This record gives sequence, C-alpha cells and structure tokens, in this order.
Amino acid sequence: MSSTAPARLCLRRPDDWHVHLRDGALLQAVAPATARTFARAIVMPNLSPPITTVAAAEAYGARIRAALPDGSRFTPLLTAYITDTIAPGEIARGHREGVFTACKLYPAHATTNAAAGVSDLGRIGAVLETMERIGMPLLIHGEVTDAEVDIFDREAVFIERQLAPLLARHPGLKVVLEHITTADAVAFVRAGGPNLAATITPHHLHINRNAMFRGGLRPDFYCLPVAKRERHRLALRQAATSGEPCFFLGTDSAPHPRSAKEAACGCAGIYNAPFALESYAEVFEQEGALEHLEAFASEHGPHFYGLPLNEDSITLVRDSHTVPPRLHGNAAGGEATDLVPFHAGQVLQWRVGEEG
Ligand code: NCD
Ligand code: ZN
Repeated sequence: MSSTAPARLCLRRPDDWHVHLRDGALLQAVAPATARTFARAIVMPNLSPPITTVAAAEAYGARIRAALPDGSRFTPLLTAYITDTIAPGEIARGHREGVFTACKLYPAHATTNAAAGVSDLGRIGAVLETMERIGMPLLIHGEVTDAEVDIFDREAVFIERQLAPLLARHPGLKVVLEHITTADAVAFVRAGGPNLAATITPHHLHINRNAMFRGGLRPDFYCLPVAKRERHRLALRQAATSGEPCFFLGTDSAPHPRSAKEAACGCAGIYNAPFALESYAEVFEQEGALEHLEAFASEHGPHFYGLPLNEDSITLVRDSHTVPPRLHGNAAGGEATDLVPFHAGQVLQWRVGEEG
C-alpha cells in the first residue's frame, strides 16, 4: 500500500439502483443492510406474485418501511413488473402518483420469479410507447432465454437481437441495461446516447466464471446474468471506474436462503448488501480510481433518473476486517434468514463509518 493512500473517504451518500429486498422474514433480515449505506434504492418487483399494480406497490412500500430500523431515512423507489398483459394506464398512473419510479422488464423465465415476464417484446409496444412519452425509465434484464443459446452468450445475443431493435423503435425511451456482465454490453452502452445507461454489480467486478467451480461447485457465486470470462470482468472494471456517466452502482443484491442455494437446482443470486460499498471501494482503489467512486456511487444514477443528489454524506474508513461466513437475520425467520454474504471469510480494506 502506498504511503499516500487515504485513511478516510467522505462521499455524498450513495444510492443502490438495483436491489432485491424480498418480503416477509427475509425482507426484515436484509432491508437494514441496504438502508445503513444507501439513501435510496430501486427495489425490484420480482416477488411472488410480482408487483404489477399501484396498490400492490404501495402495500410493498409500507412493508419495506416497516422493516427499517427506527429513525431510518431510507427511501425505497418502487418498480412495476411488466407482463404481457399489464395495462399502460396502470403504469402511467403509478408514475404520475410517485409510486412507480421505473418499470422492470424480465424476459419470461430469464431468472428468479420471471415466469410472468414478457414472452415477446412485440406484445408490450403500447407499454413502451407510454413510458417513452412520460419519461419513465425501462430497466432491462438483458438475456435471451432460448435454450439453444449458450448461457454465457445470452447477454450479447440479447443486445443484438432484442435491445438494439427496441431502442431503434423507441428512441426517446430511457433504458438501463441492468447488471451488465460483458465487454459487449460495455461497448454497446458506451456507444448509446444519453438515454442509455447500465448498472454494474460488485460481484461482477470481483469474480469471473471460475469462481463458481473453484475446487467444486460453489453456489454462492452463481447469479444471473452468470459471471463471464476474465476479459469481460476487466472490461467491467474499466467501465465502472472510468468516470463515464452511463455506468452507475446497482448491487443486484439477491438473497436466497441456504436451502435454496445449496440444492440440486440452486437459485441464482448473490447477497452483497452488507458490504456492497466496501466491495466497490476495494475495486476502485485497486484500479487507482478512488476519485471516481463518488460519481459512480452517488451522482450518475440520480442524474440519469432525473432525481436530486443526496445532501448528506457517508465516510469510508480504512480498517481491514474479515467478512463473517454467515449472517443470521431475526430469530423469527429461522433458516430462511440464514445468509452467506458476498466476500464471506475474506478480508476487506474499507469499512463504512458510523456517523451520517
Ligand atoms: C435475482 C433474484 O434472485 O431475484 N437473481 C440474480 O441472480 N440476480 C434476479 C435477477 O436479478 O436476475
Ligand atoms: Zn436483479
């Protein structure tokens, strides 16, 4: 470590532009971790059943607020789950009333709780036209679902076959390509106009696909889109730390109980919320780009969404610590809240300080 390395970093408080907070006991267990660091978060609607109405979103928002520690100022930004049949009027009303910040597009069966997703983009033309007109962002899980397309190619194929034509049909639509994992996505987003952006997760900056197979099958490193080759990880690190406004923070923290991860057919998802900012800071420091962390974490997202920047700040302190191998939520949740955090058992160099 160089002697000029800072001991503290004071940042405008960040937001998480992609998180799964779940529901019930799991929501109770995980919401405080996100609220500790982030002022706001785009909360994914892939509950079972998914959030497809304004009323369901309002009720979910109340459950999220009830799961926060006393005095928390965290604001959940809710999203609508697009189905083949969702009414454009419901989405527009939710946006007008400040309930829906954005809409999430899951290709049907692409990932966890995506069975009710969109079977054919041709079916949601009226929804996309409405969103384009009212300036409501479309958040995309960008993978094709065709069984004959290799799983490691599904993002690149989606960009070529689905995303590029969609953007050509709707040039005024604001689109976030979520949790990008490939050099192809980096290049595509970089070449897009001001209406196109991407979130990048901490785990895709740290691991490549080898992590899933090191010494045996490692379900804690399985998520969707699946981690790719090393050259893609390096392209993502370069993009995230570049200071370019089209790339911003979205953790895709996606907790699943142990029994669902360690199963013959294990669930996709990495739970990174407890040390997410610390994880990003590690990458920015390794890339010699700590001066770009604040823009990536706290400025590019609000600018894209047209939301105000947070006024308060957060301090990262250089203080190496070992991430616990397991985290246990509230006792009432039992096994359902027994979670393995990303970086379990590893040493991280930064810690979020206590003050606000
Ligand atoms: C997410 C989940 O579990 O809800 N899983 C994941 O691997 N990222 C869904 C998603 O974002 O694909
Ligand atoms: Zn996600």
